[in-house]
Amino acid sequence: MEIRKMNVVVVLVLTSIGVIQANTFHFPDNFSFGVATAAYQIEGGWNKSGKGENIWDRITHKRPEWVKDGKNADIACDSYHLWKIDVQLLKQLGVDFYRFSLSWSRILPTGFSEYINWNGVRYYSDFIDELLANDIRPVVTLYHWDLPQPLQDLGGWPNLLIASYFEDYAKVAFQLFGDRVKTWITINEPNEICDTGYGTGAAAPGIEESGTLDYLCGKTVLIAHAKAYHLYDKYYRNKQKGEIGITIVSRWNEPKTNSTRDKEAAERTMQMQFGWWAHPIFSTKGDYPLVMKERIRNMSQCQNLEESRLPKFTTNEIEYIKGSSDFMGLNHYSTWLITDDSENNCTIVSYENDMGMKNVQDPSWIPSAASWLKDVPWGFRKLLQWIKVEYDNPLIHITENGFADVGELHDTGRIHYHRGYLNELLNAIHLDGCKIKSYALWSLMDNMEWQDGYTLKFGLYYVNFSDPLRTRTPKSSANFYKELIRLRRIPRDTPQLIVI
Ligand code: BGC
Repeated sequence: MEIRKMNVVVVLVLTSIGVIQANTFHFPDNFSFGVATAAYQIEGGWNKSGKGENIWDRITHKRPEWVKDGKNADIACDSYHLWKIDVQLLKQLGVDFYRFSLSWSRILPTGFSEYINWNGVRYYSDFIDELLANDIRPVVTLYHWDLPQPLQDLGGWPNLLIASYFEDYAKVAFQLFGDRVKTWITINEPNEICDTGYGTGAAAPGIEESGTLDYLCGKTVLIAHAKAYHLYDKYYRNKQKGEIGITIVSRWNEPKTNSTRDKEAAERTMQMQFGWWAHPIFSTKGDYPLVMKERIRNMSQCQNLEESRLPKFTTNEIEYIKGSSDFMGLNHYSTWLITDDSENNCTIVSYENDMGMKNVQDPSWIPSAASWLKDVPWGFRKLLQWIKVEYDNPLIHITENGFADVGELHDTGRIHYHRGYLNELLNAIHLDGCKIKSYALWSLMDNMEWQDGYTLKFGLYYVNFSDPLRTRTPKSSANFYKELIRLRRIPRDTPQLIVI
């Protein structure tokens, strides 16, 4: 107790003078460290050995100008061929686990489970074996945004039928890999799938129907997730003894001023961005957050619509989705300042307009190479505290957290970011009692950053994309993270650039 108190004093004093590096807390013994990637962003081999086309293949091939640098992920990091090297990088870092995703269309080229591509299965099976042989636990995401194109041809996620096809795909994955995979993440970031894919159009399939298709998509995604969860729970859990959950992304939304209106707007934004997904699954009441239902119903009424644009759940669906996650997977990158705009013009139909707020970032915050990503570590702790209160202290896996630059090898910006964010994570565990069990840094290596192409880099390893061999070189941040994992606390020094 005495020691704990002393730690508190040290942390507070150092934080107050702006030195965040010296947190004396250690990561708990059962805490695990990893890194994360996603199939489309690293694998390449887009049409190799029977893989089918997905929505990212389609949009980058049909509309190259839509990607910032006009490039695609046909080869990307070529992990389809270089997976043994990837395992060696993981081994060098000393991570406990690797979070990666399966490409649905590599396993089921048409999207449907009638036809299995055994070459694709072999690829993942060998990869999982190689990880385990090196003492690295596979943490597998079933869906990281790469819907098989034939399912998009049926309307994609706004079509409720996709939930059943996702369940079929999940079944194949549990059957084939569940003997060795003990942590499953059903879906990565529903908000990005629906808002960006079908709302703003900034992600594949690039559809711009905000305020309608994004909400339809949301209903399907939540049901799809719950179907996969119940399938695992009922038929596989006993035998395979794993855990299964969903990953939700969240910013921290801070009121820009102390006014009640801004505070309410910030809370409403939390509920309509994060609560949209978390409330149906993790709250005791289930269903969408009340404020979200009210806002969209009122806006819909003002638009002379008979029904709300937010599709309802039946009572059975609410019960089915509620509690359907063994843990909360949380991705977090940055913080925004929110001002109220709830008396906005209701003739505009959009998710953004439904939220009734304006968001900005403070110009004094440390920038990254991505316009939306500023280094604001205190927002991470506030988010974790908010989640603790809102959802009764759920068990959390941090499934992504990362910093964008343009590719420096001595990447001090990235090290500064992770120092700060991991410092706040330690405070959340030790001072606030949050139940955070693991941390996955985004990302193992530079990769295809979606609509930004290769213009933004998030990797611990630099990848030379002009080299046919796609050579990987450790950055300073790789050495930093390796040392952090070894010490189980934040290292005091910033490492020099040493090849490990
Ligand atoms: C996604 C990653 C992406 C990262 C950085 C996350 O939202 O899951 O795929 O690369 O953000 O933008």
